Amino acid sequence: MQVIEYPKKMQELSEQLRREGKILGLVPTMGALHEGHLSLLRRCRAENDLSVMSLFVNPAQFDRKDDLAAYPQDWEGDFKKAEAVGVDLVYAPTAGMMYPEGYQTYVEVEALTRRWEGASRPGHFRGVATVVAKLFTIVKPHQAYFGQKDYQQALVVQRMVQDLNLDLEVIILPIIREEDGLASSSRNWNLSPEERCAAPVLYKALQAAEARVRAGEQGAEAILERMREIIEAEPLAEIDYIACCHPMRLEPVERITESVVFLLAVWIGRTRLIDNALVEVPAQA
Ligand code: PAF
Repeated sequence: MQVIEYPKKMQELSEQLRREGKILGLVPTMGALHEGHLSLLRRCRAENDLSVMSLFVNPAQFDRKDDLAAYPQDWEGDFKKAEAVGVDLVYAPTAGMMYPEGYQTYVEVEALTRRWEGASRPGHFRGVATVVAKLFTIVKPHQAYFGQKDYQQALVVQRMVQDLNLDLEVIILPIIREEDGLASSSRNWNLSPEERCAAPVLYKALQAAEARVRAGEQGAEAILERMREIIEAEPLAEIDYIACCHPMRLEPVERITESVVFLLAVWIGRTRLIDNALVEVPAQA
């Protein structure tokens, strides 16, 4: 497995590989790899001639310095895991290489980023869109892989690709969960054993919402109220937001007559976790 640090070197190699007719896949990551990342990497490996993983903890997407400092890092473990799933190349630049002195260009996706994660973490999606656009320009993938766990992020990236006419396909893969339903996330590494036991409450609330929609309930507020009750019954949990939204526009929905996505962000102690469920409405009998 090759490791490249310099953007120019990565760009030249990608250009050469594309000239040779190779199909390139990219999985952008910030490291601290978990089963969710590994599922993306395996799929990328299976569908492309060359699978690239980027490994870069992007300072531009953290609205709080303490959050950036607390972001888990395990480069040695990451390299081993990446190699084990067959990654061909790791692109791992430094912050100075991605944002050299004088850097001043950012990508803003508008309406889609105003709510939910965008409202709770000002500037977050501007940082994500910017770094992802730069990674696409440097690595030049034909296909890039993202997890549904970061639902709003995946839509923002898809929107950016469409709006900027970027020549690649964005592939979104399902959430990978641990046995008790907790969505795989690098942030789970920061949970204490007690917090880890509390964390599946997000999934419990989503399951309850899904069951109600499947049973034919259409009032979003009643379902959100039930989700709040479930989460508030867990002493270590504190809700940031819970929402029932249109699955593409992410605007709140009041009556559930077609597919919706439930989005939630919950603090478990000092760790903020997000999760979601895309729910189809059963066909009328
Ligand atoms: O989802 C992540 O890990 C990051 O937001 C991403 C897409 C790698 C951009 O830094």
